[in-house]
Amino acid sequence: MSTNNNDISTDGLTFLDDGEVLYNDLYLLSETDEKGIISYTSDSFLKVANMKESEMIGQPHNIVRHQDMPRAAFKSLWDDVQSKGFWTGYVKNQRKGGGYYWVYATVLRSIDKSGNTKYVSIRVKPSREDIQKAQELYATLD
Ligand SMILES: Cc1cc2nc3c(=O)[nH]c(=O)nc-3n(C[C@H](O)[C@H](O)[C@H](O)COP(=O)(O)O)c2cc1C
Repeated sequence: MSTNNNDISTDGLTFLDDGEVLYNDLYLLSETDEKGIISYTSDSFLKVANMKESEMIGQPHNIVRHQDMPRAAFKSLWDDVQSKGFWTGYVKNQRKGGGYYWVYATVLRSIDKSGNTKYVSIRVKPSREDIQKAQELYATLD
């Protein structure tokens, strides 16, 4: 990351020269059904993703996937939420219209009384150091 005088800040977002978007929001939330179809998004997530609620609800969650993310990361996400009920990890997401943002995500399984499964993701802002490490690790994965 390099912040300089050309960086543009608006509405709690900072746009860096290389396309990275930094955000001030404390957390970004979304929920899916058991197949990963989005059923809820927080306003903070919509803002950072640069999408409208109507563009997200009903869509598979890979709608925000960035091509740099290794398949192995999402395999571990799905393996862990299905077996243990939770997963934590670093995710680089594609922003609509260009750019990207990093999150540290905790994904949880929740089962209601009728037995319906849903998944919730709460994302917070990772440190520069953690982003650097995730980037290096992901570059070695498939
Ligand atoms: C609650 C929840 C939140 C998710 N959030 C993201 C996300 O922010 N970005 C992302 O790329 N994938 C996310 N995924 C994983 C996607 O469902 C999908 O597995 C991933 O994007 C890889 O897509 P693909 O399997 O079509 O390649 C999430 C899944 C769940 C259950």
